[in-house]
Amino acid sequence: MKPYKMAIFDLDGVIVDTAKYHYLAWRELAERLGFEFTQEHNERLKGVSRWRSLEILLEVGGMPDKFTDAEKEDMANEKNKRYVGYISQLREDEILPGARELIARMKENGIKTAIGSASKNTPLILERLGIADLFDVVIDGNSTQKAKPDPEVFVLGAKAMDVPPGDCIVFEDAQAGIDAALAAGMTPIGVGDPHNLVGAEIHVPALKDFIF
Ligand code: BG6
Ligand code: MG
Repeated sequence: MKPYKMAIFDLDGVIVDTAKYHYLAWRELAERLGFEFTQEHNERLKGVSRWRSLEILLEVGGMPDKFTDAEKEDMANEKNKRYVGYISQLREDEILPGARELIARMKENGIKTAIGSASKNTPLILERLGIADLFDVVIDGNSTQKAKPDPEVFVLGAKAMDVPPGDCIVFEDAQAGIDAALAAGMTPIGVGDPHNLVGAEIHVPALKDFIF
């Protein structure tokens, strides 16, 4: 692999397994609305924006057009309140194996490091894990307008560090993120099940398996 100047990391599913907390919070909303939301359904929400996740959940419940945008806004807020309740309790040891070491080693070797996440809760998660200072730049759902697979989140990260997209490597666990990296002209590394990561340059089961 060529020597890259910048490594951009997705957060949810790459550095920490927050999917289980997203799942608990969405499932509680579905229960209140009177239908079952399974782990399998939850797979469809990985890497997907909060608003689009709610739309998928309502499709699963057979009520895609039942609510106004204002009502949907309230539901998204309700889900987020529950989710924040869970991630406020995140422990430092919940960082996924090898993540801290890989990012630190890259930094020591002069590679710029960044977070490129859809989540508006990124600052809270980084603070709970105690890793905010491992990153030169953090681009998240608070600083972007367009959700992955739009390349905006990664393009903004590279621009902030003045690194050409072709010199960036992106670690992603969701297809939308792989597509966003490709659209940005960057090299995507698929983290997790290769079937859901089509187009990645290479695949690794987890960050600890990435040889650097
Ligand atoms: C992504 C997650 O990183 O962030 C999605 O994979 C989530 O599941 C999205 O919906 C938005 O996150 P948040 O924390 O802003 O609701
Ligand atoms: Mg992810």
